[in-house]
Amino acid sequence: MTISGKAMVCGVMGNPVGHSLSPMMQNYFAEKLNLDFVYIPCNVPDEQVGEAIKGIYALGFEGINVTVPHKQRVMPYLLEIDEAARCIGAVNTLVRMEGGYKGYNTDAEGLFRAVKRQGIEVSGQDCLLLGAGGAAKAAAYMLMKHRARSVAVLNRSPEKARILADEMNRLFQRETMKAMDLSEYPRLDKDSYLAIQTTSVGMHPDIGYAVIEDPIFYEKIHTAVDIIYTPAQTRFMELVKQGKGKAVNGLDMLIYQGIIAFELWNPDVRVTDQMTDEVRKMMEEQLYRQDGMERFKNDAEECNTHRIYGSRKNLCGKDAGKKDGP
Ligand code: ATR
Repeated sequence: MTISGKAMVCGVMGNPVGHSLSPMMQNYFAEKLNLDFVYIPCNVPDEQVGEAIKGIYALGFEGINVTVPHKQRVMPYLLEIDEAARCIGAVNTLVRMEGGYKGYNTDAEGLFRAVKRQGIEVSGQDCLLLGAGGAAKAAAYMLMKHRARSVAVLNRSPEKARILADEMNRLFQRETMKAMDLSEYPRLDKDSYLAIQTTSVGMHPDIGYAVIEDPIFYEKIHTAVDIIYTPAQTRFMELVKQGKGKAVNGLDMLIYQGIIAFELWNPDVRVTDQMTDEVRKMMEEQLYRQDGMERFKNDAEECNTHRIYGSRKNLCGKDAGKKDGP
């Protein structure tokens, strides 16, 4: 890869960012497309987010991805925030404009593309959303925006599910979402669901758990995305497959959110399906080989996490561990 003095500079900011696969992914796209582009990891302490944004603007960065734990923290420092990011309440991509940055959220659309890759249209589907945290909000927004027929949100804390459902129903002005306690799953009244698993249960290193174990629940799921991607196959995915459904992990969501960001910075190019497949292979090699897991262990020791969302408080807690951010 040749980087000239005129190269477009982008990156990822988080704390920490040592585990991020985004530099590998983004620089690979640039190389394949022969672009004068470079993408670097930036570890930004929590209290220096505002200074970091001013700094990268002054340095001429075209944009930056934002990962845990800064996705909300960046918001006050932006010139504009696009509608999806505003509704989700989190920003994962900044794009340079005159005088500052505009914030986007590419996670929701990344999840949409991951579902689409399974040959599934969201429109008209009866959906299940497991979890009601930050990641669930991006997933809920996506399901509503793409006109799911119904969405049942199941969460351990039903009050949080109710708040999420009320907020989305109000935003989209239709009563598509309904909240349930996790234990109420036997009351689900549709025959066949598209399910999105957004809780941290089952993530490395606490593999082998799913929020619901009952095989009867899984017989109703035709397709599922678990947004966790370590391990490659979660207990939830295993149970979906035993119930004869299709299940994928969160790696495609991670890849597609990155592609959407890359195309926001480079609007004249498109990442091809072949490039996407090549990048997926590279990332799988990194993630799922033995020493890849060792790398995660080291990150966990630094109190890191591997999730697209997540609050600081549970990064080191017992239930730490879900899906990576950029
Ligand atoms: P994120 O922003 O990554 O989504 P979060 O906002 O902390 O993280 O949300 C974590 C989600 O996983 C929540 O839905 C949480 O349920 P509660 O709202 O009841 O806390 C869910 N979760 C975490 N550990 C869980 C467990 N052991 N059993 C069931 N749900 C769990």
